[in-house]
Amino acid sequence: MTQQLVMRRPDDWHLHLRDGEALRAVLPHTAARFARAIIMPNLKPPVTTVAAAQAYRDRIRAALPAGAAFEPLMTLYLTDGTTPEEIERARASGFIHGAKLYPAGATTHSDAGVTRIANIEAVLERMSAVDLPLQVHGEVTDPGVDVFDREARFIDEILAPAVERHPRLRVVFEHVTTRAAVEFVRAARAGVAATVTPQHLLLNRNALFAGGIRPHHYCLPVLKTEADRQALLDVLASGNPRFFLGTDSAPHERHTKEAACGCAGCYSAHAGIELYAEAFEAHGMLARLEDFAASFGADFYRLPRNQDTITLIREPWMVPGHLPFAHGTLVPLRAGELIAWRLA
Ligand code: DOR
Ligand code: ZN
Repeated sequence: MTQQLVMRRPDDWHLHLRDGEALRAVLPHTAARFARAIIMPNLKPPVTTVAAAQAYRDRIRAALPAGAAFEPLMTLYLTDGTTPEEIERARASGFIHGAKLYPAGATTHSDAGVTRIANIEAVLERMSAVDLPLQVHGEVTDPGVDVFDREARFIDEILAPAVERHPRLRVVFEHVTTRAAVEFVRAARAGVAATVTPQHLLLNRNALFAGGIRPHHYCLPVLKTEADRQALLDVLASGNPRFFLGTDSAPHERHTKEAACGCAGCYSAHAGIELYAEAFEAHGMLARLEDFAASFGADFYRLPRNQDTITLIREPWMVPGHLPFAHGTLVPLRAGELIAWRLA
């Protein structure tokens, strides 16, 4: 059995860092493991302009632990009012690497998102023209649609037509959770890729109700069936370069999740590569981890692969029951339980 794994330093292609005290609490976890991360723009208020993204980037860099070499890759939050000129400025900035489509109401802090995709056609057109990637939260928002079907419905109703209408637009289907999404991305035209979270590789929807309701396993898109989880694992086992690492680590203060109406989001940055190592090993595909975590995403975003390495050691460690977070605590994935791999 492999006891030690030396791999190219990975990047996280989908991450929520929040702001202020919360940012300072979580950033060291990501910076210890990953060289770069695509930073989600769903702050309050959202990051809708290049100026706001630049200021947020400055705050992230100022919050880095001394000596950390982490690079935040910024994104814009698309709204009904985003202009093609802002897209042009984003592309020219050099530090903005995509724009995120949140269907309004789909998830945490998405209320300022896009109400109808028709409202951003000119923006998508300009993104194609200047080659700025689109990152998509792929769920329909109709409350009449079963929550477990919202990703599959989004593919048929919104994503597939958009990908065809904009044949040169590069698209990342974020945090895919279903067999339908895997099949769509596999078969799509060139320029369509997907990120995969650790929770969707390690857990199925039973984990939401194991002995009682488990708010710390609640995220959006919600956990799916075991067959869906297997479909994700199988496509990663095939080494398909369209699928790469994006933790979607999304911290929320403990009491906002352990509540009558709890927030969506799993926190995984404290073990952002270790959890994947466990999932890949359990599926007999540890040899696929490096490309998934450190090559395919960089290639898609047309950034150089990292040159330094990290070392993972097979040595179980206990995840704390909670971690400090702004003015409270947060409960990380695997709280109070063991993880099989440790970062050296
Ligand atoms: O579970 C989620 N949490 N899904 C998202 O899309 C957003 C995220 C957050 O920002 O908390
Ligand atoms: Zn996210």
